[in-house]
Amino acid sequence: MTEFNIKKKLVLLNSFLLFFVSCKTLEKNSIQGAVVSAREEASKIGVEILKKGGNAFDAMVATSFALTVVFPNAGNITGGGFMVYRTLKGDIGSLDYRETAPLSSSEKMYLDEQGEANKDLSRTGGLAVGIPGSVAGILEVHEKMGSLPLKDLIQPSIELAKRGFVVTEKQAQSLNNKRDEFIKVNGKNTFYGKIFNSGDTIKNPNLAKALNEISKHGNKGFYEGWVAESMVKKINKTGGNVSLEDFRSYEPKWRSPIVFYYKDLKVISMGPPSSGGICLAQMMKMVEPYNIGDLKYKSHKALHLMIEAERRSYADRSFFLGDPDFVSIPKYHLISSDYLSERMLNYNPLLASKSSDISYGDIVVVESDETTHFSILDSFGNAVSVTTTLNGSYGSKVFVDEIGVFMNNEMDDFSSKPGSPNMFGLIGGKANSIKPKKRMLSSMTPTIVERNGKLFLILGTPGGSTIITSVFQTILNAYEYKMGIQESIDAPRFHHQWVPDSVRFEPNFKNVNELKRLKLLGHHFDLEKSKLIGRVDAIMVDKNGKISVGADKRGDDSAQTY
Ligand code: GLY
Repeated sequence: MTEFNIKKKLVLLNSFLLFFVSCKTLEKNSIQGAVVSAREEASKIGVEILKKGGNAFDAMVATSFALTVVFPNAGNITGGGFMVYRTLKGDIGSLDYRETAPLSSSEKMYLDEQGEANKDLSRTGGLAVGIPGSVAGILEVHEKMGSLPLKDLIQPSIELAKRGFVVTEKQAQSLNNKRDEFIKVNGKNTFYGKIFNSGDTIKNPNLAKALNEISKHGNKGFYEGWVAESMVKKINKTGGNVSLEDFRSYEPKWRSPIVFYYKDLKVISMGPPSSGGICLAQMMKMVEPYNIGDLKYKSHKALHLMIEAERRSYADRSFFLGDPDFVSIPKYHLISSDYLSERMLNYNPLLASKSSDISYGDIVVVESDETTHFSILDSFGNAVSVTTTLNGSYGSKVFVDEIGVFMNNEMDDFSSKPGSPNMFGLIGGKANSIKPKKRMLSSMTPTIVERNGKLFLILGTPGGSTIITSVFQTILNAYEYKMGIQESIDAPRFHHQWVPDSVRFEPNFKNVNELKRLKLLGHHFDLEKSKLIGRVDAIMVDKNGKISVGADKRGDDSAQTY
């Protein structure tokens, strides 16, 4: 019996034992379990699985497939992601199902004759596509941690794809904004090529067929046979160079999560190839000695401290981080208290640093803000935090008709040329250069937090490079400023990522006097450029075991409970 099968059996056994032991606590709760995701339909499908006695891992499988149907800009079977978990017993782990670079890829594949990075090629069309990890990841979770039959977890999404989902106002806007790009890559009769209105129903019978193939044949139903062939054909027809061997050889990887302590919190987050956990640890540990809870919420003093921590962490991110199977990352050193106090030696509470004075010069990586996160807690106490992505909104815009989905454009998360701008005009480092089968650096930060040894928060968000700062701020809101989970999520956010040397504030950041003071300290920002940051979906368990949920109102996100 494998270590994971033993673990699965232990999870189940403990689930039942602890379920009875904890019944007293649960009686006090009106909420026993919850799924919070980007769409109501997906959260409902996940929660139905919990109601049927499935555990949080079963619900992860069902919710992932449902998001593919109802949230085509980021929910996916054709992208990749990360899962962080904590079982009811307190065992923790993480799964990396990030995409990989195709076997045909090379460090200079996006450079033109002048040696300049061609951004179009890494963002749109077949050459932008990484080999998807989502299906292998989801099925791995099911095999090692799930308890219900796979077909029961996929069937609701197959039915949803056949029956159709109703387009929301935000979704109609998002689809219509990208319509020209869909048509440019796929032709005018492409599936998403029409104009959508809120209230329209989208049925996707081809996606239902593909999901059915996965239900019947597992990984082989996606990575081999007609589903894989249709992806290879379309990717190559639109400028890519992938093979069936790329698909056949994809493997997800269990990795040790990043674990760090902040006061009486233990934070468990995703390690490389995501930068999320390391940067979150750096930011939290850099502010820890300053007792930020004593500084008034959103005061210029609190903002200044957090911005300076964010600046230093993003500088490190660009230099040190990449796929741990290809580059050596000093991860324990990067999150050690000694190192982080050293990083803050030049912190001046009365003056903003200049990013050019913070080491590692002028390199940083940024990803698109079109990712999706969901958080799950089952009645046994198992917690699951998943962030998954196609990278750009609707990925590469390459639509595979036979399976009814867009392919990712995750290759743009590599640095095509150290020093050359990524999707958001920013730049990446050597550790994140392209190599066949390498995973591109991510910012996704699925996170679970314990307080005094007990589950406290399950959270994460989309938002590209702003993911890490959104998670950082939400944790501080909940812990230091004692906000409830919905309030922690609703609170206005800000973001600094070292380069460019400016702070981004959300439009509802209204404390004008504090912002004036922040400017006097030497920070740069332009409130005209404000836009929304992240969509955090989270679950909180208070000191008495009471569960509360928070779905981000910035999107169509929905918390479903039972
Ligand atoms: N493509 C978004 C991320 O991986 O962070």
